[in-house]
Amino acid sequence: MNPVRVAIFASGTGSNAMALINKAKELPNSSLTIEFVLSDKLNAPVLEKAKNAGVRTYLIEKKQTREQHEAEILGVLREHHVDWVLLAGYMRLVSGSFLKQLSQWHDGHSQVVNIHPSLLPEYPGKDSIARAHTDKAEKTGVTIHLVDEGMDTGSILLQEALFLNPHHPLQTWAEEIHRLEHKMYTRFLQDLAFKKHPTNHFQETY
Ligand code: GAR
Repeated sequence: MNPVRVAIFASGTGSNAMALINKAKELPNSSLTIEFVLSDKLNAPVLEKAKNAGVRTYLIEKKQTREQHEAEILGVLREHHVDWVLLAGYMRLVSGSFLKQLSQWHDGHSQVVNIHPSLLPEYPGKDSIARAHTDKAEKTGVTIHLVDEGMDTGSILLQEALFLNPHHPLQTWAEEIHRLEHKMYTRFLQDLAFKKHPTNHFQETY
């Protein structure tokens, strides 16, 4: 059986990346593999955590142009025949040509996904939880969406709402939202493994 090959991109703490890694260990053998965790940030704690969990890591910092940076990343994705890229706190936009190359490898399908801690299109970008908390937003939540060139703008796949107490501290909001993120992203991973969400496997096109 051809496993679903997943790469995780993360720039920071890595709680979502670790939730995915731990979930992958519970899935039936050879249904899905986490090929690697890639970070663009030298001191990202996610690198150490993933390594300790036995997952291969790549540090690919942006040193020169975006084109060169993405070419290096595409090289690694190609080497591993990656089917899905899951962004988990990867705080960098990707280009249209990067996404186009990936979709060519996946029979024209977009298989790059992001998780975001708000009900998009509300609160895109950085510090979404803190901004919603400051606004005492009546409703918040988590979105899983396909990645396009914009900032948290791709087509929405899944969304779940949370109604948090405006009097509770930011820390409590963050914990609740992260808990929901981990639940939704691990469920998405399981759906990939069990083919509830179809995969177009990596295919070299030239
Ligand atoms: C997560 O809340 C993720 O949704 C968010 O960064 C955090 C990373 O936490 N991503 C974005 O804001 C993307 N625009 P983690 O490193 O503990 O998973």
